Amino acid sequence: MMASSIIDTSVFHNLKIDLDAINNKTNLKAALLFGSSFLGLYWLYGKFSRRHIKDPPGPFSFPIVGNMPQLAGSIDLYQLFLQYREQYGDVIKFEIGSTKMIVICGYKAIHECLIEKGHCFANRPNWIYIIDQIFHNSGVFWTNGQRWKDLRRFTLTTLRDFGVGKKSLEERILDEFTYICNIIDSKKGHAFNPKFIFANGVANIICTIVFGERFEYDDPEFLRMIDMLNYLFKNVGFQVPENFFPIVRMIRGNSSVIKNDVEIQKFVKKRIEEHRQTFDPNELRDFIDMYLKVCQDKSEDLKVNETDMFRITVDLFLAGSETTATSLWWTVLYLINYPDIQNKCYQEIMKLTGGGRNVTLADKPHLVYIWAFLNEVLRIVCITPTTPPRAVSEECTINGYTLEKDTMVLFHINSAHFDTDFWDEPEKFNPDRWIGNDGKIIKHKAFMPFGGGTRSCMGEPLANMELFIFACNFISRYEFKVPDGQKTPSIKGTVTGVTMQPDPYEVIAVPR
Ligand code: HEM
Repeated sequence: MMASSIIDTSVFHNLKIDLDAINNKTNLKAALLFGSSFLGLYWLYGKFSRRHIKDPPGPFSFPIVGNMPQLAGSIDLYQLFLQYREQYGDVIKFEIGSTKMIVICGYKAIHECLIEKGHCFANRPNWIYIIDQIFHNSGVFWTNGQRWKDLRRFTLTTLRDFGVGKKSLEERILDEFTYICNIIDSKKGHAFNPKFIFANGVANIICTIVFGERFEYDDPEFLRMIDMLNYLFKNVGFQVPENFFPIVRMIRGNSSVIKNDVEIQKFVKKRIEEHRQTFDPNELRDFIDMYLKVCQDKSEDLKVNETDMFRITVDLFLAGSETTATSLWWTVLYLINYPDIQNKCYQEIMKLTGGGRNVTLADKPHLVYIWAFLNEVLRIVCITPTTPPRAVSEECTINGYTLEKDTMVLFHINSAHFDTDFWDEPEKFNPDRWIGNDGKIIKHKAFMPFGGGTRSCMGEPLANMELFIFACNFISRYEFKVPDGQKTPSIKGTVTGVTMQPDPYEVIAVPR
């Protein structure tokens, strides 16, 4: 009896466990059923509660996840957009979760939106999760409305005052060129990957504008900051699933992008503090001093706070370093892929300078072929294949479709650069397409590497100045070659985060 009672007890005990398990499973199933029914109803409500509008066409959108399965499975999102363009036309609708995203392709449609209807597309979707977490509606890149206008004006004026378009900045670029050459010379003809040298040099130009100082290329704090900025740049793409699916945020916790940002904040805040200690309103040294002056100047109606200042600094770094350094990286890749073109550029410089002096901006009208070569690199590579996301600021129609306020929009710049209505044989790398019969540079309207309209790139003059001065003086000083025994590196490239990057390659620089 005793034994049986023990057995009985254990049977009941086991039975209890099984019943618990069954109960748990049933509860889980019920919870899942309830959860998915709720999400399904929410999705249906979102889909059908909108008043009737004519949406652009697009691929089939799955319940809850929208087009995430099609988009997430693609290695090259920008090519995928082009494939959908063949099927659906220039204005294509996607859904990421419950967020509607429109991709606009081809010069004509892009121009209509950015220029003719620019006021309807002036915003950026700063409410998307990662952007909101990092940028907190401050700085110039991710703010909207009057605040963005004020901050953009402040930033442009300050950039101009601290050298863009002025000789002093040109001198700073030439100084940095010398530092880069020291590193290249130290390679003594051995193969190296120019990416990091360019990244450091370009970041230093922004450092001189913002902080009034440059850093040594082996300064650990500087290197760490560049690493973090690159990481941030690669990971703030709109595609990050955290942006659209709260559940991913719950699973992944605080994104490493956000943690990374905290470290960048420390770097910039330390410099703001140092500037505060030595600030003299009568002798403004750099961007940070300008900000300190605005804060001090009570009559100034612009409200720039420290968070804005910090964010604008990061905006300039983020928007200005990777893009320009990557353009230089591509430039050298094209030089080694097209030695004849490299030689033609070199001959043009020699004819002008005889190699006895540095090339400056004033030489630009006389160096038309190099100018054409640089434009052709920016066209064919298209460093940012789409603009960073914009948002519809007021409802409008495009190609007969209605775009509601706050819809996210990407402009497919790359499609304009290959639009056969505007370019002859667009797949061909051909600098000559830029030179008119009068020997002057042709302004091609479908060339838009810096976006367009009121929200276009603020660093375009600076970027063009850097690219021209660096490229001309590199070509004048070195012959770039594929290292012996290596295959000529591919010019295919991959989009990582925001920019189109070459696959890593090595080069040798033979002094002329
Ligand atoms: C080759 C180099 C560069 C390329 C290809 C490039 C490209 C772009 C593009 C495509 C946009 C988006 C425009 C739009 O939405 O229509 C943009 C925005 C921006 N860029 Fe650049 N950029 C470059 C260099 C720079 C530099 C050097 C700076 C500053 C130092 C800079 C600062 C900015 C800022 C602040 C914005 C945001 C403007 C706004 O939203 O009002 N960029 N850039």
